[in-house]
Amino acid sequence: MNQPAADVLVLFGATGDLSKKKLMPALYQLEKHGRLTVPVIGVARSDWSDSAFRQHATESILAATPDADPNIIAAVCKRLDLVQGDYGDEKTWATLVHKLDKYTSENAVFYMAIPPNMFPPVATSLASVGLNTRGRIVVEKPFGRDLHSALELNTILHSVFPEERIFRIDHYLGKESVEDLLVFRFSNTLLEPVWNRNYVRSVQITMAESIGIEGRGNFYDGVGAIRDVVQNHLMQVLALCAMEPPVGPDSSYLQDEKAKVFAAMRPIDPSCMVRGQYVGYRDEAGADPNSSIETFAAIKLEIDSWRWAGVPWYVRAGKSLATAATEVVVEFREPPSMLFDEAGGPPAGRNLVRFRLGKKDGVTFSLQAKTPGPHLDSQNVDVAVDFAAALGERREAYERLLDDALAGIPRRFAREDIVELTWRVIQPALDNPGPVHPYFRGSWGPAEADRILGGDAWLPVTG
Ligand code: BG6
Repeated sequence: MNQPAADVLVLFGATGDLSKKKLMPALYQLEKHGRLTVPVIGVARSDWSDSAFRQHATESILAATPDADPNIIAAVCKRLDLVQGDYGDEKTWATLVHKLDKYTSENAVFYMAIPPNMFPPVATSLASVGLNTRGRIVVEKPFGRDLHSALELNTILHSVFPEERIFRIDHYLGKESVEDLLVFRFSNTLLEPVWNRNYVRSVQITMAESIGIEGRGNFYDGVGAIRDVVQNHLMQVLALCAMEPPVGPDSSYLQDEKAKVFAAMRPIDPSCMVRGQYVGYRDEAGADPNSSIETFAAIKLEIDSWRWAGVPWYVRAGKSLATAATEVVVEFREPPSMLFDEAGGPPAGRNLVRFRLGKKDGVTFSLQAKTPGPHLDSQNVDVAVDFAAALGERREAYERLLDDALAGIPRRFAREDIVELTWRVIQPALDNPGPVHPYFRGSWGPAEADRILGGDAWLPVTG
């Protein structure tokens, strides 16, 4: 159910990295599109001044949008207000109440762009001054670091905020390309008859990043690829590909169908998982020189449902790989007999539907068509659409999510049970991580990753 629109945005961690890279640029875009209508109160350490905060906002916007309109930046800055102080200091909370009273705020968005260990104390401090009845919280990922801590975090947050006022961010849910999986599947009829175990041979989901950990060693070394992107981003992508049609577009219908996918998913079998670490990772700032954390993971997942039983879902994610691309490739079975091979060339490729979710997002169908000439023979042709070219400019994930959080629309946020169900699937991988295999930067990860395919092959990623 939608929540009332917010009258103030409170940004915890207003001077931090996330705010700089994503939230300030998103505020600029919202202002530009006429979607920002509320004051923005940043909460920051006591050595920040109002002008330093505005300067920080301006620089953050310009770093992301070098040609930003100065008038729009000025309009964003005019909305900014600052509460200075320590989260552990009662005075900070009293000042925040005072500021919200000044704006006669009754429905704030409390955005937690802060380290995860700060979520519980900040949520309970909000309650200690009665602010839990005057708005909703937006919680950044990672939501917990295993099933136990996610359950615990949900319990703490629920002790002060009801579920409908907890918005859990997974920025993949804010991506147009990811949301397209849902629309593409259920707004077209041609896919549905073949979207099942009778016709689908395998599904491969790849999130390849060419960058390394980019100075985030302190964070990453305690997390790794499985917690960082598999439990959240890739599970959400998988659910959109695997779910049954929802009753309608409302949040609860979408979440219900995703929850069924995870409920039917087998917990990871550690023998069907391979972890890798790029050579040189241990020399990164913040990384333990003996670290065994994974910067690459390849996992075979299975869903015991009528639609998907027996179909392998191969999921892999890695840093410092050969290319940057996020793709879902649905591989179909061969025709029962290959009739057209008069020229005796290489065997026909299988049909693929490739959803490109990264920068050049779109869809590619790989099909067979007649080879020109006298013979009846076929060859592979790609039928592709590039969404930016076909559909025009789309908005960035953080802009859309901030917009939704302010408007009170929960559809693109993760519900409690989904987060817990995904951790249930992931937990055996954390309990039995096995060895971490080295791989070279610029490769496709460790060769051992082929092991989980059981005779299948990784399909080329096109980017
Ligand atoms: C973040 C992860 O959630 O997603 C990062 O913490 C990762 O490690 C990033 O690089 C990828 O996001 P995107 O939008 O660039 O695919």
